[in-house]
Amino acid sequence: MGQYLLLYCASVLALAAFSTAVIPSSGCGKVIPLGIVPGQTTPFQIAATADQPVRHYNVWIPADFQNDRPHAVVFSFHGHNGDMAKQEDLSQFSQSELLINHSGIIAVYPQGILGTDKESAWQGAPYSAAGVDDILFVKTMISTLEDMFCVDSSRIYAAGKSNGGGFVNLLACTPSIAAKIAAFATVSAAFYTTTFNGDCPTNRALPILDFHGTNDTVAQYNGGHSHGATEVSVDTFRLGWVSRNGCQGGPAISYLPTETDPEQLVEIQTWNTNCLADSIVVGYKITKGDHAWPRTTLPKKCNGVVSTHDCTTTVFDATPSVIIPFFNKYTL
Ligand SMILES: *[C@@H]1O[C@H](CO)[C@@H](O)[C@H](O)[C@H]1NC(C)=O
Ligand SMILES: *[C@@H]1O[C@H](CO)[C@@H](O)[C@H](O)[C@H]1NC(C)=O
Repeated sequence: MGQYLLLYCASVLALAAFSTAVIPSSGCGKVIPLGIVPGQTTPFQIAATADQPVRHYNVWIPADFQNDRPHAVVFSFHGHNGDMAKQEDLSQFSQSELLINHSGIIAVYPQGILGTDKESAWQGAPYSAAGVDDILFVKTMISTLEDMFCVDSSRIYAAGKSNGGGFVNLLACTPSIAAKIAAFATVSAAFYTTTFNGDCPTNRALPILDFHGTNDTVAQYNGGHSHGATEVSVDTFRLGWVSRNGCQGGPAISYLPTETDPEQLVEIQTWNTNCLADSIVVGYKITKGDHAWPRTTLPKKCNGVVSTHDCTTTVFDATPSVIIPFFNKYTL
């Protein structure tokens, strides 16, 4: 009898592990709060506590939001000295055309706290403010959004640029929060050895999508020293996840179609052989790419002037053509 019960439990657990079902949040069926308008961005705030400062984040609700339909949530974390408004413009997740499982997404732009150099930052960098618990901040945002809106809790995703990309990796390497996030995207990310030294205590395979330009002088492709700390190379970061995900063999190499990428600037490295839980690792190596979010147009802050970093363009738009389709494939 006990044996059968054990077998039963084991099979229920196995089913749960491979389930792709929607997990509707407690906000499903609730009327959205006054002042929150679908198709618009609203500022949110979490009150200070005894040991944490007040926190701010912007939330964009899709134009087709329906409170009886579970929507995916995508977090987009800005870089060092960035802010939530610029990150919304840079990463372009606030678009009603972007669909995950056929529904509009809820896009969330959190604001980092000023660090030791008086510039905004995320936990885990050499310059981040001591004692600020950004992982707790993400947990609180998730539970707030789940309770307020109809969220599909199996479809919460995280993307970030530069220090924000390094923070996305910290989320992936922290099991208590990684357990709530279905897939991860890092863009021109800074992986400081202060938080990431290959010792990433994950307890599950995770889908990882990474973009990096070979002409990134801020977070260098081959790693190096920055802000008094060491950054690992892009290859080290990617191979770390390949190994933790149990993927076998080298990456399959492909390029964007020559119509969009005549010079074959963008090499796509895909590790997808026998990865645990089908958690593949995909890396975009952008030849000549700068410290930027891959886009074909300039963000607003550049005022139409091409210069360096965010004010450069490349041959594809990462958000609609790569990140959203990648996220769409994964549920918890
Ligand atoms: C997509 O959403 C529909 C409707 O909410 C749901 O029945 C289905 O299971 C979802 N599919 C996946 C793969 O999440
Ligand atoms: C590489 O970046 C530097 C500094 O941002 C810039 O001056 C240079 O023009 C860039 N080179 C290419 C090939 O884009």
